[in-house]
Amino acid sequence: MSTGKLQAARGTQDVLPAQAPERLALERVARRVLEGAGYERIETPTFEATDLFSRGVGTSTDIVQKEMFTFRDRGDRSLTLRPEGTAPVMRAYLEHGMHKLPQPVKLWYWESFFRDERMQAGRYKQFWQVGAEAIGASGPSVDAELITLLHAILSEVGVGDLKVRLGSLGTAQTRAAYRERLVAYLRTHEERLSAEVRERIDLNPLRAFDADDAGTREVMAGAPLLLDELDAGDAEHFAAVRARLDAADVPYVIDPTLVRGLDYYTRTVFEVESGALAAAQAAVGGGGRYDGLAEQLGGPATPGIGWAAGIERILIAAEPSLHPVAICDLYVAGEGLTAFALAAQARKAGLAVQQELAGRSAKGALKQAARLRATCVALVDETAGTIELRDTESGEQTVATDAAQVIARALKGRHPG
Ligand code: HAM
Repeated sequence: MSTGKLQAARGTQDVLPAQAPERLALERVARRVLEGAGYERIETPTFEATDLFSRGVGTSTDIVQKEMFTFRDRGDRSLTLRPEGTAPVMRAYLEHGMHKLPQPVKLWYWESFFRDERMQAGRYKQFWQVGAEAIGASGPSVDAELITLLHAILSEVGVGDLKVRLGSLGTAQTRAAYRERLVAYLRTHEERLSAEVRERIDLNPLRAFDADDAGTREVMAGAPLLLDELDAGDAEHFAAVRARLDAADVPYVIDPTLVRGLDYYTRTVFEVESGALAAAQAAVGGGGRYDGLAEQLGGPATPGIGWAAGIERILIAAEPSLHPVAICDLYVAGEGLTAFALAAQARKAGLAVQQELAGRSAKGALKQAARLRATCVALVDETAGTIELRDTESGEQTVATDAAQVIARALKGRHPG
């Protein structure tokens, strides 16, 4: 057993009190925007049967091949810490018969996820996502609504230099036909491709569009594009999504090479980048339609679409406007019984109250109150039974004889938040 000082596991991080207010502010914005549009909160378990992800996310993806934290329980069942939220949400939809509810069922989540990736700024082994899924509707308005909501949340919290990349992968059949064409194209240019791309030609040819090496990039510049091969239905759907984004004034660029790292997508796919993030981790969020996922999980054909955005990445890219200061309506300077009772009563009255707990002198307590930006400070004299109340903004000082007077005054100066 090691005896040195223990640290958080590599790739994980603590959320310290100093970071809590900005996370809370982001959660509030996400909740207001999503619940305002009728999305309801869902929580699924931290781990699931491994099959859910191999069948849902796809065995050829990096996530399933190399990034899952998989373990066996005592009954020798294979379990996996969830690497993403869409397959679990679809599993819950099917398991709980949500098809009986009015459709689409609109859900959102705020949870942590686990991928064994190489750690870098903005890339962790345990990270948090806010996500939204609409299951049970296939029309283009759902696609455009979800993209608009993601854009609204990111804009409101001040994520700088936003870019929405939009593409369409067509239906499974279109994709299969295109895949064959692409594999054939890659085979004819095999010698110029990187070893990694070459090895995966049959497994996942679309990933070749993601490659960084010059040879592969040159080959891919001339590759056939899926967007040019969409069938009439898919092309019409894609055009209708674009028209709705135009109508809602959501700016986007069409990216025919957009590949997502999960296999369940059909038709619309999108990713939102921020110029405020390093290029390697520029994606703040991404998502798309997954009309075949329910069937892959053993359910009836059910359309769905959604997105997820990385909370750590949003907070890195957001402007400091998101960093609110915690509110303190009243600082009670004193640790005796009167002071304690005053703090308790003032909290019951709905005030945000902090009490002196470290034995500071009156001067020290005033300093601490200033640090907390308390609106009022109550200096309690236990022997005299009086309370001096200071309004820190106006500097006004008054003497009160009981808690009720202090609370009435503090309520008047109370912060609206
Ligand atoms: P994803 O693109 O894999 O999609 O992840 C969404 C976002 O999660 C990324 O854009 C990024 O901000 C964040 N993220 C992913 N991996 C990490 C990591 N290792 N560290 C920090 N942040 C990370 C999905 O997960 C899909 N389930 C999205 C979706 C929902 N599609 C349809 N519905």
